[in-house]
Amino acid sequence: MINCLMKEMKIVGLQIKQEVYGEKNEKAITIDDNIKIYTEIEIKDLEKILTLKNMFYNISQDKAEEIFSTKCHNKNILESVNLITENFKLESILKSIEETIRNLLNSDGAAILLYNEEKDVLNFYVTSGGASGKIETIDVPIDDSIAGECFLKKETIIINDTTKSKKHFKKTDEKSKYHTRNLIATPLFFENEVIGVLEAVNKKKGKYTDQDKEIMEIFSSLISNKLKNSKVYDDLSSTIKGLIQAVATAIDLRDNYTHTHSKNVSVLAVEIAKKLGYNDSFIEELEIAGLLHDVGKIGIPDNILNKPSKLTDEEYEIIKSHTIIGANLLSDIDFLSKNIPLGALEHHEKNDGSGYPTGKKGNEISLFGKILAVVDIYDALTAKRIYKEPWPKEKVLKILEKDCPKKFDCEIVEALKETVMA
Ligand SMILES: [Fe+2]
Repeated sequence: MINCLMKEMKIVGLQIKQEVYGEKNEKAITIDDNIKIYTEIEIKDLEKILTLKNMFYNISQDKAEEIFSTKCHNKNILESVNLITENFKLESILKSIEETIRNLLNSDGAAILLYNEEKDVLNFYVTSGGASGKIETIDVPIDDSIAGECFLKKETIIINDTTKSKKHFKKTDEKSKYHTRNLIATPLFFENEVIGVLEAVNKKKGKYTDQDKEIMEIFSSLISNKLKNSKVYDDLSSTIKGLIQAVATAIDLRDNYTHTHSKNVSVLAVEIAKKLGYNDSFIEELEIAGLLHDVGKIGIPDNILNKPSKLTDEEYEIIKSHTIIGANLLSDIDFLSKNIPLGALEHHEKNDGSGYPTGKKGNEISLFGKILAVVDIYDALTAKRIYKEPWPKEKVLKILEKDCPKKFDCEIVEALKETVMA
């Protein structure tokens, strides 16, 4: 039904606050005070679902981002949608979809079961609600469960009283000590093959309805798309990461002593970002930025890079240029986030402007630059170098603490301390 409506409902315009994109008319779906979608036909029912569907399929990425960044009345749903659109991590996506479904269907729990080909059963992949954490190891039989029936028939099944269903698989309830009163199950597809089941259980008020079925089917198609994208992303991502690691190793090998510096910086920066509570995509970019922060050393001659005696002023200027060379090299790579060249450019900057290459101060320095600056110094001082023996970590931490906030951000130094002293 939704799909038929969607086919009829050509979108002619979109209004965000006062700005109209496309045409404006009176047949508008109002999402909130700030957002209106203009259509060719009048749609009164299922407004919420249609609105969600519009967001997923009919609005370009730029407009969608604008919408998501505007505060809407149903904040939880929009936050989840936002997460779904920008996050490629499969498990985070599925978790956020589940939570959205629980909210929309007013259900106590939701689960995603995936087909286990080896055992010919369904296994819980992501769960939320009362039974979460207790059912993940259960093998749900295909021929003796409601989820299995949904999987085989490739259609949504609503059971509003499980005591009347012969197919209700009781082992899940027994193991989790959870009573499933009612449930709705929708098949999940990957490239037209059924691969699992999306379930919502125990509607808090009333019964599961056809409207719930439509919501489940929309989310099922959303998951299918994301599974496809995530697979492509995972394949690509592991290939690219392999290449980046090879480049980082090549950079480190040019330095006679610190053969693991880039890797160390990357690992520590990730730990710090986790402690500071940054999201998955930030951490993933920071991991790459750490590996590549010294890539500009490729342009520094060996006799300067590995000079055992003191550098002349001129040589020091050449060393400093590795930040600019690196940033230029990395900004030419289209698929890299702009944070990554920024990390290379700014990892020797200091809050008080005493760093290089440009002497940026405080908030002029990006977060990537600030985190990498702290980690870079920590790893350099605790490692053996051509001109010095390794220093104990306590001594290095004291130096960094003494220099914050003058040169470094105190909370980054604190997170480093917690990480390395753990
Ligand atoms: Fe550097």
